[in-house]
Order: sequence, then C-alpha cells, then structure tokens
Amino acid sequence: MSGNPLAAAEPWDLVADGYAEEALAIMEPFSARALELAGLSQDSQVLDVAAGPGTLSLLAAPQSARVVALDFAAHMLEVLDRAAKAAGHSTIETRVGDGQALPFADNEFDAAFSMFGLMFFPDRTRGFSELRRVLRPGGVAVVSSWAPVIESPLMRMMFGAMTAADPTIQEPQPNYLSLENPEVFATEMRAAGFAGVTIQRHTTEVSYPDGTQMWDSMARSSAPLALLRRRLGEPLWSERAPVMRDYLATNYRPRTPLATTAFLGIGHKPTP
Ligand SMILES: C[S@@+](CC[C@H](N)C(=O)[O-])C[C@H]1O[C@@H](n2cnc3c(N)ncnc32)[C@H](O)[C@@H]1O
Repeated sequence: MSGNPLAAAEPWDLVADGYAEEALAIMEPFSARALELAGLSQDSQVLDVAAGPGTLSLLAAPQSARVVALDFAAHMLEVLDRAAKAAGHSTIETRVGDGQALPFADNEFDAAFSMFGLMFFPDRTRGFSELRRVLRPGGVAVVSSWAPVIESPLMRMMFGAMTAADPTIQEPQPNYLSLENPEVFATEMRAAGFAGVTIQRHTTEVSYPDGTQMWDSMARSSAPLALLRRRLGEPLWSERAPVMRDYLATNYRPRTPLATTAFLGIGHKPTP
C-alpha cells in the first residue's frame, strides 16, 4: 500500500457529489482531448479506469458502442449512473473495482483510458500492464497525469490557501521519478508493452466569479481538502476554513483565468 492517502477510495467517495458538480468542468477538456487522440468509432468498446463521476465516460458514450466505467469509489459510480440515466446513455456500464486488477478478459476493449486515476495507483506498473492486457492488439490507451504543481497556477493558488491555514502543508516539489516527468511516463508505458508511445501536454484554464466562490467550489470538490478536514476535525476545520477562504478572497482577482496542465500518454498494444 502506498503512503498516498489519495490511493484509497474514501476521500473520493466523500467528494463525489461536489466533484461532479464543480470539478467536472475543469476536468472535461482533458477527457475531450484524450478522446480526440484515441479516435473512437461507433463500434468501439471503451474502458474508463478510475472513471470518477464519468468525466470521460459521458463524453465517450455518444462516440462508441459500449463504455465500461470502473472505479473503486462506489459513490462516484452512483453519481455516474444517475448522470448517464439523466442523459439517456444506455451504453455505459459501471463496475466497482481496482484498476490494478481489472475484472475483464484479455483483448476485450478497443480503447482504454485512465484520466488522473492510474497516477495514484501504488503499483503503476500493474496499472499500465492491466490496461494493455485488456486491449485488443492494435487497441489504444490514453492515460493522463498532472504536470508539476509549480507549472499550474490553479494548483498553486489552492496550495497557497492550504499553507496559509496549515503551515505544515507545503506546495509539493516536482517529483521527477513520477509521471510528472514525461520521460518517466513514456518509459513506464513502453515497459508495460505499449508501442508508438507519445506524451502530449494539454493546458486548460478555469476562472471563478471571485475568491469566495472559488473557495466554495474547491471545498465541495477537492479530495485533498476533504482529507485535511478529516485530519483536523470539525472544531479546527471551522477555524482554518475561513483562513483559506480569506486567502483566496485576497489573492484571487475575480474572473482571472488560472491555467492547469497535464500530460497525456498515448500508446498502442502491438499487433502480433
Ligand atoms: C481525480 S479523480 C479522476 C476522475 C475522472 N477520471 C476524471 O478525469 O475526472 C481520481 C479517481 O481515481 C479513482 N481511483 C484512484 N485509485 C484507484 C484504483 N486503484 N482503482 C480504481 N479507481 C481508483 C478515484 O476513486 C477517483 O474517482
């Protein structure tokens, strides 16, 4: 088990509703780009690993024959089921499970994705090789992971607020041994047996009416903030939350676009 608390289902279950309502709009452009890169057809069988509330699955459904959305956070998948029903997507199936041990046969899918999910797996090697295993030969995988926080004004703003409230929390330094490093990203995909691997950068921007609304949005949707709240307990949280809100109210200029950048790794399962 990794020491990363975000490698467990609980923090994601805690924020599932807020994530769907607040974070989906930030995350969607990355899924839209991943789908463009994969080039689905109406016959495609699609797997979305660590699907969350269906950021990619809901976009993929109209472009494909069938989408299987897997996540270990059951509440995320309940939110996805509701959204799929409301949108009239009858081709999305949800499955609770671990992305490191996929409950599917070999060669079952034409395209497999893990958007900001596999990056948390304690065993990324397993995560990548499971994606390859369930793809048919010639099938495509697209995996995304954040660029270093230092390159993301959106994340820097969030960590600035957290540090103001709790100085033991510091902005993470770049980890060049992780998928934050495009060379490591490509090497791990190739080592898992993918061919034609490329890593692409993709940046999107988000803005808020003002810092207070930015705080409200983040407090509802951020798994790291949910963890902080649990660690502090309610009495301390009710002292610290206003510090974070005031930090954003002071430091965020209303409607300023804040960029955030990710890497998208694309690879194919070789044909024999
Ligand atoms: C940042 S969210 C990404 C959700 C969605 N893919 C998106 O792009 O918005 C991370 C998701 O990964 C899921 N996750 C993390 N580790 C997992 C694992 N080992 N197996 C299955 N799901 C996992 C979490 O439950 C959460 O829903």
